[in-house]
Amino acid sequence: MDRIRIQGGRPLEGTIRIGGAKNAALPLMAAGLLTDERLTLTNVPALADIATMAALLRTLGVAVDPVGNDGRVLAIGGAITSSEAPYDIVRKMRASVLVLGPLVARTGEARVSLPGGCAIGTRPIDLHLKALEELGAEITLEAGYVTATARKGLRGANVIFPFVSVGATENLLMAATLAEGTTVIANAAREPEIGDLAACLTAMGARIEGVGTDRLTVHGVTSLHAATHPIIPDRIETGTYACAAAITGGSVLLEGAKLEHLGAVMRTLREAGVEVAEAAGGLSVKRLNGLHGADAMTEPYPGFPTDMQAQFMSLMSVAEGASMVTETIFENRFMHVPELSRMGANIVVHGASAIVRGVPALSGAPVMATDLRASVSLVLAGLAAKGETIVNRVYHLDRGYERVEEKLAACGAAIERIPG
Ligand code: EPU
Repeated sequence: MDRIRIQGGRPLEGTIRIGGAKNAALPLMAAGLLTDERLTLTNVPALADIATMAALLRTLGVAVDPVGNDGRVLAIGGAITSSEAPYDIVRKMRASVLVLGPLVARTGEARVSLPGGCAIGTRPIDLHLKALEELGAEITLEAGYVTATARKGLRGANVIFPFVSVGATENLLMAATLAEGTTVIANAAREPEIGDLAACLTAMGARIEGVGTDRLTVHGVTSLHAATHPIIPDRIETGTYACAAAITGGSVLLEGAKLEHLGAVMRTLREAGVEVAEAAGGLSVKRLNGLHGADAMTEPYPGFPTDMQAQFMSLMSVAEGASMVTETIFENRFMHVPELSRMGANIVVHGASAIVRGVPALSGAPVMATDLRASVSLVLAGLAAKGETIVNRVYHLDRGYERVEEKLAACGAAIERIPG
């Protein structure tokens, strides 16, 4: 298994290109199942999770072909020949469950392995299933698989989510585009990735109102058609590299990044003493003076994203003063805390909140993490720490960060991948 070796203490200086958003790309690929015609996605990031979704779509019979040589354009299309998302793929990536809605809407049947828990929480899919049931799908659970059937097609309905779920909103939105009649989705997630999905579905011929709000209205159509859609820049990759610049006392241009999707993160970084400004071609981030403690509480968009919580905690671990970081989305997303503590951070967890008391410096250590964002938070800590840090289980990073070590090394970090 590959590892990452970092010699800490060098400020990052330079330009980092931000890729397409992983969490937009995955549902967009699943949306390719809604038509036989070709869906062309551009600005696709080169990530392990994208390869996994491509493998899943191919299992369903659909072609996923790169267009051109740089791997950034994918054409998805063709007839669906199987309705089953097998355990071997779903266990690797929970987002596989996003094929459920499109499959049942298109073919009248979907059989998807239940994803089970994961490193950050139990993560059930009950909201996805209930929403599809309200559209008339019959749901059965057997032998670790969920089967959704709607032989006569789905029918529009009013669905009120009891709490906000990104994935359930996406599954329902995709399914509703082909349902008969009108679907209203109340308490819908408002993440920018949902807006991107809605934009792509609209380009494919779907009729959706209320995009960007928590109430989506979808007027079903009988079929969708070919379209080309550019994927939005990854706001979490952007926020992660902004924290990298800040934790090292550096200055970087995040090329292609958009400020509009990063409100809460950038407000909090500014409060902590980080300079963030729109610049030609992206965002400039620098930290010239000291960092101060700032609080963050994760919330659905437009709140502070749970996917930035671990990285922000690394940053706060070297800020002057105390910060409180509260996680409200996932019940077990503090797995990075013991590893940061091993590097000298002073963090105490009380239930869903962590009190971080900044220390003057972290010290390098061998560390490992059990999920993507926790892993990258350890990379950030390593960039700022005195001495050498080895981050194990790099495959977590490869799921969501494209060439992380190359991007950081190009800005002066002493970081390398050790193949193993
Ligand atoms: N939940 C339920 N029942 C459901 C669905 C969700 O109880 O049927 C709970 C979850 O367990 C969680 C909360 O609701 O406690 C919110 O989960 P949500 O459904 O919004 O998350 P998701 O769709 O599974 C996406 C991202 C995650 C990100 C969350 C929250 C993708 C592929 N994944 O997950 O990204 O943390 O939204 O913003 O879009 C990551 O990229 O590292 C990552 C984990």
